[in-house]
Amino acid sequence: MSSRLRETADTVSLTLTPAGDEALGPFDPGQFAMLYAFGVGEIPVSVSRIGQRELVHTIRSVGAVSAALCALRPGKEVGVRGPFGTGWEPERAAGQDIVVVAGGIGLAPLRPLVLAALAAPRAYGRLNLLAGTRSTDDLLFAERMRTWAASPGPPHCRVTADRPAPAWWGHVGLVTTLLNTARFTPGNTTAYVCGPEVMIRATARDLLHRGVPAHRIRVSLERNMRCATGHCGHCQLGTVTDACLVPPTAQNQGAIEDDLVRTVEQVLAEGDPSDEELTHLCERAIRNHDPCISCSTHFLDLTIART
Ligand SMILES: Cc1cc2nc3c(=O)[nH]c(=O)nc-3n(C[C@H](O)[C@H](O)[C@H](O)COP(=O)(O)OP(=O)(O)OC[C@H]3O[C@@H](n4cnc5c(N)ncnc54)[C@H](O)[C@@H]3O)c2cc1C
Ligand code: FES
Repeated sequence: MSSRLRETADTVSLTLTPAGDEALGPFDPGQFAMLYAFGVGEIPVSVSRIGQRELVHTIRSVGAVSAALCALRPGKEVGVRGPFGTGWEPERAAGQDIVVVAGGIGLAPLRPLVLAALAAPRAYGRLNLLAGTRSTDDLLFAERMRTWAASPGPPHCRVTADRPAPAWWGHVGLVTTLLNTARFTPGNTTAYVCGPEVMIRATARDLLHRGVPAHRIRVSLERNMRCATGHCGHCQLGTVTDACLVPPTAQNQGAIEDDLVRTVEQVLAEGDPSDEELTHLCERAIRNHDPCISCSTHFLDLTIART
């Protein structure tokens, strides 16, 4: 991780650059990576900016892994698997108006799409960016959003807050109310929506009602994930149609051993843990690779030699 920027009280943007000579995968707007906080766990996180030799991920701290990633300092290593996901495919909206609707952290995966459309102004029609935030202090990329909102555009940007502070410069209320301020021809529009599921549903319904064709309303549901490759079923929205019967313990043996070494090196570099703490951390590192052995990790026979 080469830099870390605090966006709000619970959200940071991390800039990741490949370690050594490793190449960066070809990430597209809307895709995500599985980010691994060593010794804690792995979670899906979208790219919020895509550079030549760097990826930016904007992460809200909501639980163990996101908190560990948010707490990392520049110079620390993060495991990255990806790219995953279909992406927004902005090229399919060539010649059309664009309506981007974001709720909360949903603005992060939509930012690369807005930047791509801004970089090719002749390729698209009118570009609208509508964002909703719980409170004024929760707004992501606040300075940039305020600048965009204050200018005639592009993008035509409007922001609304559920609980505005006294000096709030945007609108008040649900993000769907901003659709009335957007400039688009419904029959020639592609819409992109990301945020809480209830917000996605309400926005998609309103867009349909306004005449945007269903196949041009693109949404991203950010369900919990494990494998990100379509095998484990953790992200499924309906019936499980496929199940992975290959035990990850065997597949991941090499990675588990690598991770044990890294975990121990990291905690020893940062402090002087007790034998009990070390054993607990090593057991957790094993469990991260295979929840099925969560109860059996007590098999670990750790011999600690202090010099
Ligand atoms: C494709 C994809 C892209 C994502 N992109 C981003 C991103 O750019 N930035 C970002 O901050 N987060 C993003 N997320 C959500 C992020 O992955 C979760 O917040 C994370 O998995 C939480 O893990 P944790 O260990 O920190 O918390 P946990 O301890 O696992 O969970 C903490 C709380 O959050 C809930 N939760 C966990 N995962 C999700 C989820 N996916 N959706 C809703 N509630 C959840 C849990 O039920 C629990 O209440 C994305 C998720 C997906 C699937
Ligand atoms: S995370 Fe979707 S199938 Fe595993």
